[in-house]
Amino acid sequence: MKKRHLITAALPYANGPIHIGHLAGCYLPADIYTRFLKATGEEVLFICGTDEHGVAIELKARKENTTPQAVVDKYYEVIRDSFKDFGIDFSHFSRTSRPIHHETAQAFFKKLYDEGRFKEIETEQYFDEEAGQFLADRYIIGTCPKCGHDHAYGDQCEKCGSSLSPDELIKPHSALSGKAPVKRKTKNWFLPMDEMAEAPGFKEYAKRVELWKTNVKGQFNSWIQQGLQPRSMTRDLKWGIPVPVAGAEGKVLYVWFDAPIGYISATREYFEGLGQPEAWKTWWQDPSSSLVHFIGKDNIVFHTIIFPMILNEHGGYNLPDQVPANEFLNLEGDKLSTSRNWAIWLHEYLIDFPDKQDELRYTLTSIAPETKDSDFTWKDYQSRVNSELVAILGNFVNRVMVLTHKFFEGMVPGNKLKPDTAARAAVLDAIRANQDEVAGYQHEMIRSLNDFRFREAQATMMNMARAGNRFLAETEPWKLHKTDAAATAVILDYALQLCAQLALACEPFLPFTKGKLLQQLQWEPDTATRRQWWREQDAVFPLEAGHQLGQPFLLFQNIEDAAMDAQRARLVKPTPVEENTKPEYTPLKPEITYDDFVKLDLRVGQVIAAEKVVGADKLLQLTIDLGFEQRTVVSGIAMHFAPEEIVGGKVTLLANLAPRKLRGIMSQGMILMAENKDGKLLFVAPNGSADNGGTIS
Ligand code: 2FM
Ligand code: ZN
Repeated sequence: MKKRHLITAALPYANGPIHIGHLAGCYLPADIYTRFLKATGEEVLFICGTDEHGVAIELKARKENTTPQAVVDKYYEVIRDSFKDFGIDFSHFSRTSRPIHHETAQAFFKKLYDEGRFKEIETEQYFDEEAGQFLADRYIIGTCPKCGHDHAYGDQCEKCGSSLSPDELIKPHSALSGKAPVKRKTKNWFLPMDEMAEAPGFKEYAKRVELWKTNVKGQFNSWIQQGLQPRSMTRDLKWGIPVPVAGAEGKVLYVWFDAPIGYISATREYFEGLGQPEAWKTWWQDPSSSLVHFIGKDNIVFHTIIFPMILNEHGGYNLPDQVPANEFLNLEGDKLSTSRNWAIWLHEYLIDFPDKQDELRYTLTSIAPETKDSDFTWKDYQSRVNSELVAILGNFVNRVMVLTHKFFEGMVPGNKLKPDTAARAAVLDAIRANQDEVAGYQHEMIRSLNDFRFREAQATMMNMARAGNRFLAETEPWKLHKTDAAATAVILDYALQLCAQLALACEPFLPFTKGKLLQQLQWEPDTATRRQWWREQDAVFPLEAGHQLGQPFLLFQNIEDAAMDAQRARLVKPTPVEENTKPEYTPLKPEITYDDFVKLDLRVGQVIAAEKVVGADKLLQLTIDLGFEQRTVVSGIAMHFAPEEIVGGKVTLLANLAPRKLRGIMSQGMILMAENKDGKLLFVAPNGSADNGGTIS
C-alpha cells in the first residue's frame, strides 16, 4: 500500500443542487473509502469543489435570467452545504472560479503550449450572427437523426441518448436567437490524443487500467480501440478561463481541460491555508502517494484518458492509481433528470427528514450502482429503514442497552465467569462462537472496502448486528437473569462490546449513527483502538467493567406509509420546459386500434371549484361537475392558470383513468389540455352548451 492517499470526487457543476444520483454515484463511495482509510490510520486527503465553468453554467444563467457569476455563487453554497449536511468529509472543498485555480490551469496550458504539445487547427464552427458569437454544441438545437426528436442538442439527444455532433442535426437552429446558424472559421488548440496515447508514460499507465473495474476498463478500451481523435482544449465562449496565449483573445479553456486541474488547485489552496504552500507537491508528484478519482460513468473518458494524458504530457505528476466509477442511479424506474425535475434533492430531503441522513446513506449504499445501473424507490427506502436499520441494528443496540440498565443499572457488568455448570459453559461457548463469527465479518468487510465493493461491505457490517440479535435469541438474558445473574452479566458484557465494535464498523457508512451509539455507550475510541480494529488485529473489548453507560434511545424510527405516499406524490412529472425554443411538432405516438380508443371514457365536465395544492407550485385541485357526480381532480396547471380564472369553464375529462394520489389527494381523472408551441396550455373545452356528464367520442 502507498504511503498516502489523495482521493478526489468529481467536481459538480455549480448549476444546480445535488440529488441522490450524485450522492450515490461518487460522493458517498468516496466518503466511505476516505473514512475507512482514515480509520485504519492511513494518511488521506479528500478533495472536491465546484466546477464553475462551461456551457452548463451559461445555460443555467440564461434559464434563470441572471449572470453565470450569480449562478455559481448561489449553487456553490447550496452544494457545499448539502455535502456537509450528509457528512461528506472533504479535507477541502474549493471552487474553480478562485484565482489559484485560474492561475494553475493557465500555467498548465501555457507549459503544454510552449512545449508545442497542442496542434493549432482551424475548423468551421456554427456562429450565430444575430447574437454575434460562436455556438457551443449545446447551443445548437435541431432534429435528432436517430429518433426524430426535434429538440436534440448538438452534442446529445436526451430522448434517445445518442451522442451527436452539431453537423448531424437536421434543421439546426441557435438556442440564443432561434435563427439558423452559419459556419465560420475559427482557430483552436487541440490535444492530439491519437499521438499521446502512444507516449511511453501513458502506455505504462494503461497497464494499470486492466486491473480496474470492468465498467471502467470497458469504456477505456473501447475509446482506445475506436482510435482517439484530436480534441480541442479551447472554446469560443465567453464564460471560462481565458486562454493565456497571444492570438487566443476571446477564447476560454475547454471546461474539461480546466476542471480536473481543479483537483490540483484545490490541493494547493488547502495547503496554502495551512501555511505550507509547497506541501501539495508531495500529494501529486511523489510516487509514494496514490491518486484515486471517484466519478460517475459519464466522466470515465475524462478521468481515465484525457486528464492522465494531460498530466503525462506535463510531466512530473502521478497518474491515477484507481478510478472506481459507478454506473447510474435511476429513480422509481425512470432516469434521474434535473431538467425534468425527476429527482430527490438533498436539501429538500432534509426538510422532510431532518436527522435521517444515515437512512439515505444506508439505502443508497445498499443499492449503489457499482456494476450496473440501479433503481431507488421510496418503497425500498422504507423497507431498508424499517426492516434493516430499525429491526436489526437499532433493535440489537436497544435491547442490549435497555437490559443492561434494567439488570445492572447501566453499568458494563464485566466478563468473569467460570464454566462451573453446563449452562454456564454453554454461555461461554456461545460467546466464543459469536466472537469468531463477528471477526469473520470484520475481515470480510475490510476486504470489500479495500476492493471498492462498498455495497457488500455495508451488508457485511449489518451481518455483525444480525449475529448480535442471534446471540441474544440464543442466550435469552431476559430469562436467564431470574436464575443466573452472573451468566447474564457476561452475556450483556459481550453484547455491549459488540455494540462498541458496531460503532467502529459504522464509521465509514453511518457516521451519524456512530455518533449516537458512542453517546449511548459514553465511549470515545482512542486512535489506537480504532486502528487495531480496522487493521484486523485482535478482537477489541474496549468497555471496561463498571463503565457507566448513557441512557438508551432509539437509533432509528420506523417510516410510516403516509410519509412515503407524500414523497411519491411530490414526484409528479412536470411538463418538460426546454430552453428557449419549443419543438415545432411532437412526433406521433405509435398507432393504436379503434378498440384501444373506445376504452377511453371522455366526458364533458365543468370546473366548479379550484384551489392551489399547498406546498406544490405546479398543482391545482379542481372540483369537476359531471352532472351525475362531482370529482376531485389534481392537475399540473397551476403555473398557467390562477384558480379563479378557470372556475365555471367547461373541460374534457378522461373519466375512467384509475384514481391516483397526488400530494396526498386522490385524483379521479384527468383534464385534457392542448399545448401551444410557446408552451402555453389551453383547455380542450367542449362547446359551452354541452351538458355536464355528456360523452365525448
Ligand atoms: O460531470 C460533471 O458534473 C463535471 N462537472 C465533473 C467534473 S469532474 C472534474 F474533472 F472536475
Ligand atoms: Zn434521438
